[in-house]
Amino acid sequence: MSSQKIGIVGSGLIGRAWAMLFAAAGYRVCLYDILESQIVTALAELGQELRNLENKGTLRGELKAAEQLALISTTTELEQLVVDAAYIQECIPERVELKVNLYAQLDKVLQPQTIVGSSTSTFLPSRFTAGLKQKAQMLVAHPLNPPYFIPLVEIVPAPWTSDQAVQQTYDLMVSLGQRPVKLNREIEGFATNRIQYAILNEVWRLVAAGILNVLDVDRVLSQGLGLRYALLGALETAHLNAPGGVADYFQRFGGEMAKVSATYGPTPDVRDSEMLAKIAQQCEEIVPLQGLPQRRATRDAFLTKLAALKRQFE
Ligand code: NAI
Repeated sequence: MSSQKIGIVGSGLIGRAWAMLFAAAGYRVCLYDILESQIVTALAELGQELRNLENKGTLRGELKAAEQLALISTTTELEQLVVDAAYIQECIPERVELKVNLYAQLDKVLQPQTIVGSSTSTFLPSRFTAGLKQKAQMLVAHPLNPPYFIPLVEIVPAPWTSDQAVQQTYDLMVSLGQRPVKLNREIEGFATNRIQYAILNEVWRLVAAGILNVLDVDRVLSQGLGLRYALLGALETAHLNAPGGVADYFQRFGGEMAKVSATYGPTPDVRDSEMLAKIAQQCEEIVPLQGLPQRRATRDAFLTKLAALKRQFE
């Protein structure tokens, strides 16, 4: 249990989730936003959310919902946010000019011990920290939505981020009960989106070629590969799938893998309107747009159960 101060910049969807994760681990959280109205709503909704989780028995950490809420304070002053902060998690909208501006502002007021991690899903850290005085303390700490239920955090350094900042962020994420990974250098898409896009591209090609419809191509993951991947990564899955382990697996199937891979074809333009309209129509037959909030809530409820099961597995 820590009493260190953590700053959160931006009190939207992801900022709130981080506030809950840090408060659950006993950190003092200071939530900052440029909009006073946004902060007021955020605090009210956080209180409600924490009570809901407590009632359902899925609240994280050892503190009660009211105790966790009491650890969260708010401000609209950047100077107040940075004072004595051990770490700041940035969660402002995904627009590079906003990030560049904010990091330049932070650079002027940041104390030497404070690390800043960005939640960005797409921008390399070098893109918004280049030229700053305190750039060695800045990096990306990318969560997956919903961070309260999905433990992965991708820690991505810029070329100038210090090893110490990377390690401290890693240790901090572990202290929250998250499961971080450290990339040794920045790369477009980090790791998650590189893998996710490879899957989406192939799913798209199979539907566009008329080989599977949306329901069935999703079934390949949700009723097949995804069940294994919910427990194990791709390489450990391969390791278990050949009598002699992973070396045996790639010796046996590597030739076939290369042959199939040569047939993938170019990256599809997924903005192509005709195909997109077809995919959207089929998806909406499965879950109508007005049913999305309910479907998300159901997914999150089951992710909690899956997370508990995974802890037993590990
Ligand atoms: P959001 O739009 O829900 O919230 C953004 C918040 O930032 C708003 O409350 C806004 O008032 C505030 N804000 C805007 N400019 C600000 C500034 N200069 N200083 C302080 N606050 C400011 O956005 P969301 O979805 O929470 O995303 C935040 C970040 O998290 C983005 O970088 C996004 O790429 C990343 N992310 C989002 C995921 C998602 O599924 N929504 C998943 C993983 C990462």
